[in-house]
Amino acid sequence: MEKICVIGVGYVGLVSGAGLSEFGHDVTCVDIDEVKINLLNDGKIPIYEPGLQSLVESNCRNSNRLHFSIDISKSIKDSSVVFIAVGTPQKKNGKVDLSFIDSAANMIADNINDYKIICTKSTVPVGTGERIEKIILSKNKSTMFDYVSNPEFLREGSAVNDFMIPDRLIIGARTSKAYNIMKNVYRPLYVNETPIMNTSVETAEMIKYAANAFLALKISYINEIANLCEDVGVDVHDVAKAMGQDGRISPKFLHPGPGYGGSCFPKDTLALSHLGKKFNKPLKTIEAAIEVNNNQPMRMIEKLNNLLDNKISGKKVAILGLSFKPKTDDIREATSVKIIPELVRLGVTIHAYDPIAMNNFRNQFPDINYFENWEEAIRDTDACIILTEWNEFRGIDLIKIKSLMSEPVILDAKNILSISKLEELEFKYDNVGRKISL
Ligand SMILES: NC(=O)c1ccc[n+]([C@@H]2O[C@H](COP(=O)([O-])OP(=O)(O)OC[C@H]3O[C@@H](n4cnc5c(N)ncnc54)[C@H](O)[C@@H]3O)[C@@H](O)[C@H]2O)c1
Repeated sequence: MEKICVIGVGYVGLVSGAGLSEFGHDVTCVDIDEVKINLLNDGKIPIYEPGLQSLVESNCRNSNRLHFSIDISKSIKDSSVVFIAVGTPQKKNGKVDLSFIDSAANMIADNINDYKIICTKSTVPVGTGERIEKIILSKNKSTMFDYVSNPEFLREGSAVNDFMIPDRLIIGARTSKAYNIMKNVYRPLYVNETPIMNTSVETAEMIKYAANAFLALKISYINEIANLCEDVGVDVHDVAKAMGQDGRISPKFLHPGPGYGGSCFPKDTLALSHLGKKFNKPLKTIEAAIEVNNNQPMRMIEKLNNLLDNKISGKKVAILGLSFKPKTDDIREATSVKIIPELVRLGVTIHAYDPIAMNNFRNQFPDINYFENWEEAIRDTDACIILTEWNEFRGIDLIKIKSLMSEPVILDAKNILSISKLEELEFKYDNVGRKISL
């Protein structure tokens, strides 16, 4: 078993650290955020992720294989494998901000004391592995480490399961020694016959972007088809269902909505598009997917305005769902973050509710009205938008909604409500690519 250090205790670092300790390794997760580390050392989980609390608890308390520390230098020195899982946000110009990666690489360069595997899990543009190697080599001999790219494919909301039972494992290693050590780190998966691909570092970096951008492209595609379905009087759900039955297409990521968000697709599509431009190979499909996605939230505002007879200013609107998808508290690049400020600018009073992400949203947007349940949020409002398909909204009581609202007006941006029920109750409604009320 290895002694492992995971640098960066975010959605990826914490889940990976806990998962690696579950595999039997001795893992220390380190971060520059002292508040986060203190919370974890107090037995609290700083993010919402189903199944994570019990995984962390059992590996901290029962087996004592999982530790949290702000002493990054010591943890690097004590480890044989160092994972980098820091954030790689996008800069204002759309390029990837590699400052967190550089700072982690410098910490590693300053603290290598014997041979180690340095392995990046963060999503980084092709060439970043070489950049990290150069930083470490500037202060150390090449015999002191091997560099590995091991991109992570977990999804927030099912991250624990995705880490423990991944579809595949990508190990971009330059030497067979490094590949074999990494294969051993993931031994339980290897034994369970998870497909493992041994690639070059650069190929591993490219695979992650190509995969994420393809999924984003699929979403933008079905959103464009949905927008067209509205004009030609076709239900996009019938179209998507039939498309998905074709094994070459698959039904996944064919759900129309207000556009993709989250901490990955928006920044990763932009990063890939930048890479294409840098090498004079513009990625026109990705650029189109980005453009479609940028327009989709604004279409939701137009739809709402139409439902309100073009008199949106001064109206009270309930927003159900703030996180970028269900089962997470992550609001990065969520549709709510794009739509709510625009509605406020148009003179709308917001009544917001989300089962999990409300505190994160409140920190960023303290000036809108928050409610502890959907019933209170919806009371006396002129319209309601569903922006996240939380289960509690899927089965929402439409009769109750109608009795609480000033006007029964709903924009179902996630297409989760029954159209026949909305019609039966005489709601004025709209959605994405389906039938609308007349
Ligand atoms: N969130 C996802 O669903 C997901 C999935 C796959 C891949 N990724 C990729 O994984 C990476 C991490 O994403 P995330 O969502 O976990 O990010 P995050 O923002 O949740 O966490 C990053 C953490 O790194 C810490 N950090 C930054 N610089 C540091 C340093 N020098 N030393 C120690 N800690 C440092 C931050 O304090 C933060 O806690 C990104 O590249 C992302 O694209 C994310």
